Amino acid sequence: MRRPFIAGNWKMNLDRAAAVDLATAIVARAGEFAAVDVAVCPPSVYLEAVAGAIGKVTVGLGAQNMYHEAKGAFTGELSAGMLLDLGCQFVILGHSERRHILGETDEDVNRKVHAALAAGLTPIVCVGETLDEREAGDTTTVISRQFDGSLAGLSDEQAAGIVIAYEPVWAIGTGKVATPDQAEEVHLDLRKMLTGRYNEATAEAVRIQYGGSVKPDNASELLAQANVDGALVGGASLKADDFLAIVAAAAGSQTPV
Ligand code: 13P
Repeated sequence: MRRPFIAGNWKMNLDRAAAVDLATAIVARAGEFAAVDVAVCPPSVYLEAVAGAIGKVTVGLGAQNMYHEAKGAFTGELSAGMLLDLGCQFVILGHSERRHILGETDEDVNRKVHAALAAGLTPIVCVGETLDEREAGDTTTVISRQFDGSLAGLSDEQAAGIVIAYEPVWAIGTGKVATPDQAEEVHLDLRKMLTGRYNEATAEAVRIQYGGSVKPDNASELLAQANVDGALVGGASLKADDFLAIVAAAAGSQTPV
């Protein structure tokens, strides 16, 4: 059985004091949900302050991006080693906002995935189709291209150590959530891609989060799907009560695999 994993992607929001307050409020109650893995991903400039608020307890820490090189003349970038140094265990890679606004390609994401794994960070690798792609019937083609490109060259063992987030672009920040059936269909496709590319054991081990307008009132039915192993939460992760309600929904949704 895969442990549910709920991560909050705070994106470019909050200030330092608000980030510490939010982390403190989440940490205060996260211990109530021992069956769920919980992480927060603040803006990189607040990682250290949030790490201090979290301490070494129940809540994990993730970054929202990194660069694939270990060090050198790459102005403005951060390496996997630097994120580890700040206390991160996770890094979100290939988020749709980075793909579509910042122009990241599957090749960029793939280089970052390799660098993160080599350094000991767990990548949360995002994939997802746009509304045009879905309406053209291209969802599976797009997801499979992003899967192949972003994860190229990983061994079975490395693949077993990643997290995948399915985030349909049309559902991010729009309030338009995928139906549980729509989410499960793509998650099942991703599980089959993992089996085909790697093996059954790897496919069973990898957690696949859903992201896109996850809220307290829709989390339970999404998380009840057999292949939805957690959520990557944007807007609702900025309010401790909402985020914790989603964590609580995950605690109540464990289904045997
Ligand atoms: P929203 O939950 O705000 O739709 O954002 C989802 C997301 O992009 C998480 O990475």
